[in-house]
Amino acid sequence: MFGLTAGEGTNAIDLLKKDHEDVEQLFDQFEDAKEDDNDEMRAALASSICSALTVHAQIEEELFYPAMRKVAELGDLIDEAAVEHQSLKDLIAQVEGMRPGDDLFDAKVKVLSEYVKHHVKEEEGEIFPEAKDSDIDLDALGRKLAARKAELAGEPGVMPPPARKASAATKRRPRASSRAKTASRRTAKKSGE
Ligand SMILES: [Fe+2]
Ligand SMILES: [Fe+2]
Repeated sequence: MFGLTAGEGTNAIDLLKKDHEDVEQLFDQFEDAKEDDNDEMRAALASSICSALTVHAQIEEELFYPAMRKVAELGDLIDEAAVEHQSLKDLIAQVEGMRPGDDLFDAKVKVLSEYVKHHVKEEEGEIFPEAKDSDIDLDALGRKLAARKAELAGEPGVMPPPARKASAATKRRPRASSRAKTASRRTAKKSGE
């Protein structure tokens, strides 16, 4: 859902803008779910919003912002953006710990959307144009962003397979517990028949 994968050719700016659009749509859908009084949908959307923003902030901090620091004019703006990320992450953590119906849940999602709008406006209005004017290779950076994003989002084919080299001791425990679960399910089924 969140945009471009490692295999697609894209530049860094296009990838980040696509992320911005995707999360804006999620916020719109959250507003619709609020009007429909759909708690389940609000919870699912808030969770998607938080995950999307977390991955997006991380790829910017790990790859995009450090690359932009090489543009002398952008130093102060990247500092401000990094501070804004911190505020966003604080609010994301609060939303992640809440459920629809909790006090201030909707208000926090709303304020999160407003912070994101403000932050996106600065990135797209001030940072991205400077990046485009610079001699930074935005295609190469875009490939790195896409690869890291896929890794963080756990998209198939990119994440390493689950560890299978666990020691025999650690393997035995989950098997025993899954046998116990199966047995208890069987018992439950029998008693329900
Ligand atoms: Fe950002
Ligand atoms: Fe961004």
